[in-house]
Amino acid sequence: MTRVDAALAAARARLTASPTARLDAELLLAATLERARTWLHAWPEAELDPGVAERYDQRIARRAAGEPIAYLLGEREFWSLAFMVSPDVLIPRPETEGLVRAALDHLRASAVTEPRVLDLGTGSGCIAVALAHERPDARVTAVEAAGPALDLARANAARHGVVNIEFQAGSWFGPLGPRRFDVIVSNPPYVRTGDPHLAAGDVRFEPVGALDGGADGLDALREIAAGAPHHLAPGGLVVVEHGMDQGEAVAALFAGEGLTAVETHLDEAGLPRFTSGKASR
Ligand SMILES: C[S@@+](CC[C@H](N)C(=O)[O-])C[C@H]1O[C@@H](n2cnc3c(N)ncnc32)[C@H](O)[C@@H]1O
Repeated sequence: MTRVDAALAAARARLTASPTARLDAELLLAATLERARTWLHAWPEAELDPGVAERYDQRIARRAAGEPIAYLLGEREFWSLAFMVSPDVLIPRPETEGLVRAALDHLRASAVTEPRVLDLGTGSGCIAVALAHERPDARVTAVEAAGPALDLARANAARHGVVNIEFQAGSWFGPLGPRRFDVIVSNPPYVRTGDPHLAAGDVRFEPVGALDGGADGLDALREIAAGAPHHLAPGGLVVVEHGMDQGEAVAALFAGEGLTAVETHLDEAGLPRFTSGKASR
């Protein structure tokens, strides 16, 4: 039988390629045991059942091969809510919380009641669920092209008891007819085709359709910019996430489509990550 402390030490030794080897080893053992991480420290001499030891070994082998910890755990926190994730969806990133903040700030400032909010490319549903959770009075619409991702987004909404989201399958504004919204948010695919980042680290396990934005990375952003003026209510805000070197290009797309008050915003790390624009009143 293997003790907890010995299993953790052996796992850490196998995870040398991970910058978070200790944390990974603990998270995976805690998940395999269905215990809190603190339990591992309280009971280092506890012995693992052979079945647990084998399941842990398999998970450590997958992590050592580079699989993202979020896929192995099946979960990732976003906006202090736990979202189920699978290889069908992008793993929610902390910087994307900036889109949620921008949308909430605009709704607060504009004081619209029962605001209509649109999330394009909802993936795991993290942005839509966070917004619907914060603003139970909002009517959120979440669009997604990938069926398995849409199923997971629905499951995440149910998990958090959020009932004010309508999910739509389809491409960008396609399923929406002439509907208009007070806020449109999107974290679309924006990585250039062939960018070496697509083949590196955790990213290589994520769905290419969630990442690849075409030759210049701007295919989806172009469609969103072109559609936004036709789907924003007067004074409404569109805010998108993009690569840190795409701010000027996205601002030019927004201005070119007649959006006003176009601004690029920094994320928590000080990188230009979001661009917003408004529909005139
Ligand atoms: C970068 S991921 C963002 C996922 C999630 N919103 C987040 O922030 O973690 C982009 C999402 O857009 C979806 N997508 C790609 N092309 C699309 C299209 N034409 N119409 C709608 N969604 C699309 C992808 O399937 C993916 O879920």
